[in-house]
Amino acid sequence: MKPFEISSIQDLKLYRGKRLVLDIPHLELKTGAVTILSGPNGSGKTTLLKILAGLIEADEGVFKSNSREISCAAAPKEFSGLHLYMHQVAYMFSGTVVDNLSFGLRQRRYAKDIIDSKIEKILKWASLNHLADREAKTLSTGEQHQVALARARILDPCLLLLDETTAHMDKSARIRTYQLIKDLQNDGVTMLFATHEEESQHELNGVKLGIADGKLL
Ligand SMILES: Nc1ncnc2c1ncn2[C@@H]1O[C@H](COP(=O)(O)OP(=O)(O)O)[C@@H](O)[C@H]1O
Ligand SMILES: [Mg+2]
Repeated sequence: MKPFEISSIQDLKLYRGKRLVLDIPHLELKTGAVTILSGPNGSGKTTLLKILAGLIEADEGVFKSNSREISCAAAPKEFSGLHLYMHQVAYMFSGTVVDNLSFGLRQRRYAKDIIDSKIEKILKWASLNHLADREAKTLSTGEQHQVALARARILDPCLLLLDETTAHMDKSARIRTYQLIKDLQNDGVTMLFATHEEESQHELNGVKLGIADGKLL
C-alpha cells in the first residue's frame, strides 16, 4: 500500500468569500483507475484537484484511505509530494528535459546512479530520447506535457491529478498523451482527469463523473 492512497472524500466544502464553490458530500475514488471528471468552465474542477494535491486547504471535509483518515486541515502537508497536480499549461523548469525529469529525484536526494537508471527508463517510456538534451522551455506544448507526465511518473505518485491536460494539444499530441495515460492506468496509478471535452471521455476508459456549480452530478 502506498503512503496515502485516497479511497473516498466525505463532506468536502470550500468557500470563496460567502460563496460555496465546492460542495461534495461523498466521492469515491477507485484506486488504480482513472476517474474522468467532466464539467464546464467554472464548475470547480481545478479547485477540487488542487485540494487533492494539497495546494488549497478545504474549509470542511475528511479524506479516507483503507487504513486512515486525514482532516482537511492536515491534508496539505500529508498530500504534498504524494499527490501530484499537473497544471493545465505544463510548466517547464529551466534546463534540459533530463534536468526537468531529474529535478524531483535530486530534491529527494536519490543517488546519481539510481537517477540515471530511472531517467533512462522514463525517456524510453515517454518516447523522449530524441529530446533528452533539448532546453525544455523550447519544446512544443504537446512535448512539454509529455515531459510533465514523465516528470510526474518518475516520482511514483499515490495520486496523479491531470487538469485539462489535452486541452491545448494538436491531434497527434493528444493521441500520444492518451496512450501515456493508458500506460499509467495499466500500471495501476490512481488518476483524476479533469476535462470539459467530450473526446477525453471517449478515449479514456475510466469511471465517469460530472460536476456543475461545485456539485457532483
Ligand atoms: N482564488 C479564487 N477566488 C475566488 N473565486 C475563485 C478562485 N478560484 C476559483 N474561483 C471560483 O471557483 C469556481 C470554480 O473554479 P475552477 O475550480 O477554476 O473551475 P474549473 O476548473 O471547472 O473551470 C469558479 O466560479 C471560480 O470563479
Ligand atoms: Mg480549471
